[in-house]
Amino acid sequence: MRVIAMGMLAATLVVAGCDATATSASTAAASTDSAGFDSTVAQDVGGTDDASTADAAAPDVAADDVAVDPPCPSNKMWTKGNQGSALMQPGVACIACHNKSGGEAPGFVVAGTVYPSLHAVDKCYGSTATKVEIIGSNGVVTTLTTNSAGNFYQSKFGSKIVMPYTAKVYNAAGDMLEMTTPQTNGDCNSCHTPDGASNAPGRIIAP
Ligand code: HEC
Ligand code: HEC
Repeated sequence: MRVIAMGMLAATLVVAGCDATATSASTAAASTDSAGFDSTVAQDVGGTDDASTADAAAPDVAADDVAVDPPCPSNKMWTKGNQGSALMQPGVACIACHNKSGGEAPGFVVAGTVYPSLHAVDKCYGSTATKVEIIGSNGVVTTLTTNSAGNFYQSKFGSKIVMPYTAKVYNAAGDMLEMTTPQTNGDCNSCHTPDGASNAPGRIIAP
């Protein structure tokens, strides 16, 4: 009895990030390996059923809601305030705090967060394992990789970055997006805010 209950909980957790209809999706998960994909199919079937009934307006509204860019695509938010961690405050301007070589917060030369979408909100976890290249004015390339919060940073200690710098972001397939305008401020998230500041288009996004 206890084992069955835990099995159902695990199935619910697997699909919770992708789909609100966890109960119906967990049925699909039991018979296939791709729970997230199947739950989408299950939703589509439901919508078709609704559309065939007399009240056709409601399914249209629901379909529009699904198409809107979510404020936090990862569905995961940092909740531990200023507790020191490499996963802390994703999306927030790191160097506003990490600005000295002494003190509590270690000093950073560059730091920021990569997202899958342009307007993700502060403290939302971003894109994991994404390659970020910082190209110094002397041509030396510093390669950083985002952690599980989407954060990347280079501490002052050991940094080879010479300002001003440009930057490139790669996805797993090797596609690249480049910042061609040289910058002297290493606090990426101070410009790459949800709406963009100082002419930045919004978040740093993976291509
Ligand atoms: C509001 C201030 C503030 C912001 C914003 C902030 N930090 Fe921190 N961070 C701190 C403080 C203070 C500490 C040290 C805490 C301690 O020693 O307990 C710290 C510690 C850390 C550490 C060291 C953790 C360890 O285990 O030693 C890392 C790495 C870090 N922050 C990364 C980041 C990144 C990346 C960002 C931006 C995405 C960021 N921080 C944003 C204040 C901040
Ligand atoms: C002072 C503001 C500012 C800072 C700081 C900044 N950027 Fe940018 N970023 C911009 C602007 C403006 C653009 C658009 C023009 C361009 O691509 O040069 C941009 C564009 C980009 C792009 C290309 C986006 C696209 O959609 O094509 C990437 C990638 C990028 N920045 C990465 C970074 C990284 C990484 C950092 C920190 C190491 C950083 N930026 C810091 C202002 C900034």
